[in-house]
Amino acid sequence: MKFFVDTADVPAIAELNDLGMVDGVTTNPSLIKKSGRDILEVTKEICDLVEGPVSAEVTATDADTMIAEGRKLAKIAGNIAVKVPLTWDGLKACKVLTEEGNMVNVTLCFSANQALLAAKAGATFISPFIGRLDDINLDGLDLIADIRTIYDNYGYETEILAASIRTVNHISDCAKIGADVITAPPAVIKSMVSHPLTDKGLDAFLADIKAAKISIL
Ligand code: G3P
Repeated sequence: MKFFVDTADVPAIAELNDLGMVDGVTTNPSLIKKSGRDILEVTKEICDLVEGPVSAEVTATDADTMIAEGRKLAKIAGNIAVKVPLTWDGLKACKVLTEEGNMVNVTLCFSANQALLAAKAGATFISPFIGRLDDINLDGLDLIADIRTIYDNYGYETEILAASIRTVNHISDCAKIGADVITAPPAVIKSMVSHPLTDKGLDAFLADIKAAKISIL
C-alpha cells in the first residue's frame, strides 16, 4: 500500500520522507491556506523533496480554466498530479489533461458512480473521502470496498486513493479492503506506531535494564 501525506507542511513531509514513509503528497486549497504559503512556491518545494506524485488542486470550476490551471501546475515538476473536483467540468478537464500525459487525481468523490465516471475519464487516482462520509453517519469504508469491486470487475487502472483519513483504523481497514493508496495527515501516520502494550512492555524492560545494570555500549 502506498502512503501519501495529506499536508502542505514541508518539514512534516521531510520528517516522514527521511524514514521512507512517503510515496507521495496530496494538497488541497484548505491545506495550502493552512500552510500560509504561495501555492506555486510550496508545491515546487514539495515536488523537489518527494519523488512520488504530488497532488496540486485547481481553483476554477469551469473545464477550460481548470485545464489551463492544470497545465500550469504540471509545469512545476514532472511528479505533479493535477487535482480536479468530481464535477462534470472536472471530468472534462481530467480527460484532456490525462490525454496530454499528465497524472490526474479526481477528488471529492462520495459515491461509487462518481468513481466509475472518473475511471472512464482516465483518472490516475480517485479520491473517495472516508471521514466526511462517516461525519454524516454513512460508512466511508463501504465506499472504498464498492469502488474496489467495481474497478476490479472491469480492470480499471485508476488507483483508489483513500482520503479524509481521520484514524489509524481507517488506514488498516483500507489496507484490508485493498485501497491502492491512503493519504493521511502526518499526525495520523505517526500515531500508527503507538500501542499501549508496546509502552508497557518497554517500561518493564527499562526497569530490568536499570535493576540489572545491563549495558551494551
Ligand atoms: O485529501 C482530502 C482530505 O484532506 C480531506 O480531509 O479531514 O478535511 O475531511 P478532511
